[in-house]
Amino acid sequence: KEKVTTKTLQAKKVAKEKITMLTAYDYPTAKMIDEAGIDVILVGDSLGMVVLGYDDTLAVTIGDMIHHTKAVTRGATDTLVVTDMPFMSYKTGKINLTVQNAGRIMKESGAQAVKMEGGSEIVAEVEATINAGIPVMGHLGLTPQSVNQFGGFKVQGKTEKAAQELLEDARELEEAGVFALVLECIPARLASLVTEELTIPTIGIGAGKGCDGQVLVTQDMLGIFGDFTPKFVRKYAKLNQRIISAFKDYQNDVEEGSFPRKEESF
Ligand code: KIV
Ligand code: NA
Repeated sequence: KEKVTTKTLQAKKVAKEKITMLTAYDYPTAKMIDEAGIDVILVGDSLGMVVLGYDDTLAVTIGDMIHHTKAVTRGATDTLVVTDMPFMSYKTGKINLTVQNAGRIMKESGAQAVKMEGGSEIVAEVEATINAGIPVMGHLGLTPQSVNQFGGFKVQGKTEKAAQELLEDARELEEAGVFALVLECIPARLASLVTEELTIPTIGIGAGKGCDGQVLVTQDMLGIFGDFTPKFVRKYAKLNQRIISAFKDYQNDVEEGSFPRKEESF
């Protein structure tokens, strides 16, 4: 199998083949996703919630993203690896800082692209980053780094005005050169419209089946993260129960003296 690149994703859109993306934050998970043949691994700043235990993504640092992305890129041989730019590493009004931070993430982590949340307000820094040779993935709709402005994790783009703005943002991002666009928690009809209007691929999460691809947070779809489950998540496994029961079996075996056995000793 060949390494997936931004060009592979573009070709998939043209061929009307669906794109698959999952998140990973560590080496073994990246290896399994790679072995399954998923197109893209996103080292998302959802890291903050599903791995580090924060209530939102705001506390995640560039150092956190680099640390976890390094583990992922060691395991992802064929999969395209995209890393989130964390809160306050861009969109600060300093375009040079954005490019420097994106450059540091690329150099130190081994990722092949970065993702930034936002529309027209980040177009200048998206362009500057792309001009530095760094592919950028866009992200519109429910952009979790803006949760405090949204007043919670709520579906976006529901009014006619909001829908028009989102479509305009999508067009501007495409114009700026993003290679793909994540659409999170927006009405399925709006996501389909954006997908038809753009020549770059859209990747949806809670955005219906009309997108060119789909993404889920791995901890959600495996049922490892149980604090809450958004409506758009399909649970492909309920690993938390299995893991807890494995832990209990181990505890039981140790306590009753059946672990370790002779064959498990030296
Ligand atoms: O951080 C993340 O996992 C994401 C996806 C939900 C798109 O940004
Ligand atoms: Na994210």
